[in-house]
Amino acid sequence: MDPRKNPYTPNAGARPPVLVGRQDELDAFEILLDRLRAGRSEQSMIITGLRGVGKTVLLSEFRASAIDRNWLVIEVEIAKHDNEQFRNILAREVRKTLFAIAPRTKWVGNLKRAARVLKSFTVTVDPQGTLTANLGVEPLEGEADSGALDADLTDVLVALGEAAAQHNQGVVLLLDEIQFLTRLQLEALIAAIHKTVQRQLPITLTAAGLPQLAELAGEAKSYAERLFRFPAIGKLSDSDARQALIEPAYASGVRFSDAALNTATDFTDGYPYFLQEFGQASWNLSEGPEINAADARMAKTEVEEKLDSGFFKVRHDRTTELELAYLRAMAELGPEPHLAGAVAELLGRTSRQCGPIRSKLIEKGLLYTPEHGLAAFTVPQFDRYLIRTIPALTVPDVRLR
Ligand SMILES: Nc1ncnc2c1ncn2[C@@H]1O[C@H](COP(=O)(O)OP(=O)(O)OP(=O)(O)O)[C@@H](O)[C@H]1O
Ligand SMILES: [Mg+2]
Repeated sequence: MDPRKNPYTPNAGARPPVLVGRQDELDAFEILLDRLRAGRSEQSMIITGLRGVGKTVLLSEFRASAIDRNWLVIEVEIAKHDNEQFRNILAREVRKTLFAIAPRTKWVGNLKRAARVLKSFTVTVDPQGTLTANLGVEPLEGEADSGALDADLTDVLVALGEAAAQHNQGVVLLLDEIQFLTRLQLEALIAAIHKTVQRQLPITLTAAGLPQLAELAGEAKSYAERLFRFPAIGKLSDSDARQALIEPAYASGVRFSDAALNTATDFTDGYPYFLQEFGQASWNLSEGPEINAADARMAKTEVEEKLDSGFFKVRHDRTTELELAYLRAMAELGPEPHLAGAVAELLGRTSRQCGPIRSKLIEKGLLYTPEHGLAAFTVPQFDRYLIRTIPALTVPDVRLR
């Protein structure tokens, strides 16, 4: 069928034609904003999930919902920033938000104070003052200028929250990929939000990242668990997965045969990104108006090849020989989380010897630790890919300390 009319969206962060299975999170977000706006407190959310399950898409929905409710949105995709870069990025965003609350000519009271606090916040990282050149205010000495990120960020977010409150507005920070925050940065954000919650200010933080986050944040601040819920999103239920394929096609008068749907759910296991790839391939391969069993079989082969040379391959290419052997050993044990000791044993080594490899894989975002001692793949079906492409488990003849 005509690829121009293909409705599927196998792209990072691309809004799917039908967003299924995420109503609970969408409702929770709306309740969060409405409660905060009314001066009530509510736990915010840190969404966790594997690669390609729809975290970025969900944050985009949150953004749209916040804008609908007249909230101001600060959106940041976190990368491995040092503290200076982190301060700069936040300062840039807060600056933009101050201008969005009111034009500079109207800055009085809390808004002017927030601008001064922001200016203080940047003095250490931006001595020339380029970031804050046109704020037209002097730094507020003693606020946000201590050099300690947690204290300074708290000053900034409290000041911003007070400014927003005075103008009957709210600010939501939406941060993606927050597993890349350093512990200090995460702690600083949590500390700042802890304070804005105590002050009942209309400002909140909703974030998304890989699953090791819940553990990271929990370690970072014991009260993080009371400030945030950590909803995990993952594969879609069987009926939701079917709906994600059926509905977009139905809108164009195209339907899937039952056999084709069975192949799809079997192959994708309900993972959103794989479903979009499958939908796209089967549409393009089919003569229509029915996507039948033969189309689905061809789509499966095509998608598998595409994933093997793209989605999986880019991750594979980022590993060293030893790291790859470690992953391959994990794959041998199956898709579920595995004890460090079990993987090491398969490699004929001790977990201590393998420790640095495992840490590196976690740092690279290929593995995460759902619980102490356990590690699992952050990429769905990575185990199957490894077994497909590296049929025999071999242990590199490299001496480890
Ligand atoms: N609820 C959903 N129903 C159907 N498709 C979805 C859904 N959510 C996301 N998708 C599709 O899944 C793919 C991945 O979405 P997204 O980029 O948001 O995932 P992610 O969790 O942010 O992945 P990553 O960890 O790699 O950043 C996209 O192609 C998107 O269109
Ligand atoms: Mg994403």
